[in-house]
Amino acid sequence: MPTLTQSPAWQALEAHQRTMAGTAIAQLFAADPQRCGNFSLRLGELLLDYSKNLVTAETVRLLVALARERDVESQTQRMFNGETINTSENRAVLHTALRGARPVTVDGADVMPQIRATLGRMREFSDAVRTGGITGHGGRQFTDIINIGIGGSHLGPALATHALAPYASPRLRVHFVSNVDGAALHRTLACLDAAATLVIVVSKTFTTQETLLNARSVRAWLTESLGSDAVIGAHLAAVTANTQLARDFGLTESRIFPFWDWVGGRYSLWSAVGLPLALAVGADNFEQLLSGARTMDEHFRAAPLERNMPVILALLGVWYNDFFGAASHAILPYDESLALLPAYLQQLDMESSGKRVTRDGEPVDYDTGAVIWGAAGTDAQHSFFQLLHQGTRLIPADFIAACQPHHALGRHHEVLMANFFAQTAALMNGAPAAGSAHNAFPGNRPTNSILVEKLTPHALGLLLALYEHKVFVQNTIWGVNAFDQPGVELGKRLANRILPELAGGDPVSAYDASTNGLINFYKTHR
Ligand code: F6P
Repeated sequence: MPTLTQSPAWQALEAHQRTMAGTAIAQLFAADPQRCGNFSLRLGELLLDYSKNLVTAETVRLLVALARERDVESQTQRMFNGETINTSENRAVLHTALRGARPVTVDGADVMPQIRATLGRMREFSDAVRTGGITGHGGRQFTDIINIGIGGSHLGPALATHALAPYASPRLRVHFVSNVDGAALHRTLACLDAAATLVIVVSKTFTTQETLLNARSVRAWLTESLGSDAVIGAHLAAVTANTQLARDFGLTESRIFPFWDWVGGRYSLWSAVGLPLALAVGADNFEQLLSGARTMDEHFRAAPLERNMPVILALLGVWYNDFFGAASHAILPYDESLALLPAYLQQLDMESSGKRVTRDGEPVDYDTGAVIWGAAGTDAQHSFFQLLHQGTRLIPADFIAACQPHHALGRHHEVLMANFFAQTAALMNGAPAAGSAHNAFPGNRPTNSILVEKLTPHALGLLLALYEHKVFVQNTIWGVNAFDQPGVELGKRLANRILPELAGGDPVSAYDASTNGLINFYKTHR
């Protein structure tokens, strides 16, 4: 296969970009009264309208040709079939099996029985905690849960628990502590009663410095509050792929919920990592989330590339990233309950796509992952939208909203949605200068609009799986491994080296002058 930038499909897109660069999206609407229908896709309760993009049918045809040339279809099947597509870590990539229904073989064994068994245990445990069948040591029903984890062991469950709050039991509050900054744990513990608190330690490796330190501090708090180390087991559970280390930490077998090395951290919400969510909203709702993701998986697997939602989103991403130099992509949920979505997608996308060599270790000569950022509307309109409308940079954006709110507060939802529709139209159409150049809106800012009927667990599953597969397709086209994250290791190693040096009062001189200076300033002023 020729290198990506030398390939016929890439070169055809470069030539096509030159013809599209002077085109206005608004003109494309004028030329095609059916444009909205022609450039939108529907799956269940989810609508993707991508008509407000700088694309024609020819653009889509050329982008799809690129996807075909880069083997997106066969790579997709390889992922679903459990082949070792995470080559640097020599692992299969099977978050889809966690919500799947068909047998999938890894190392000669079907993984589905262990997935079902763990789901069954999650159901039993969450039902019992929710109904008071499982209590704290003194027989008190649990009122609070602390989830201790970071990255993929935090962002997915935190997002989903926040998003699905309308489905949550009012009798159980879930708190998330991720940061090693003691302020986070301190603030959380300050308002909790240990006798009614269940702690879940979530870590795929069970070696993550931040999580283990937070876990040890919580264990000490439980021991001190409950009066004995011997009784704290009733207040602990763990979710991990390293069950031995969880046992070494003091967890009993019945409180360890496993997942497996073929589940990447940032793809792990669908595994037992979703336990805090299952506790909050109940096992039926958790399974609805899985079912929504499964619906997207089946669509992704079967739909032709031209009508395939994750593929279309990915191709649009590649189009702006590599042919228009767009360095970032904004995620704009017009839904307060999706306020954590930008942070979740930051890890999903940037940890997957922030790579500078191909799977074979060859340096890339094109841009890979964009900077993912964003915030909930309408708040975001009053902070960074100025730059979206009139700044010099091209920032493609996804607007996401639900047609039906979970509340009955007067006109709030209509005002919210009016802003959603107005912003996407204004970004595309712009407006001529009214009196002064300061008032000119250039327009031609591309957006995707994603609407769900209502933000149910099923709809959330559809939405998150959509982005997972988008990231997969982009990385398949770029030829990079979406499932490893070697870039996070260097800083971790260095922190471990610096940590013991912070202990004494002696000045350090082992690092560069700036780092020495900073450490020494800290030592003098702490
Ligand atoms: O530092 C990055 C990372 O390895 C993520 O990929 C992962 O989600 C997170 O740390 C937490 O890891 P663990 O679940 O093993 O504690």
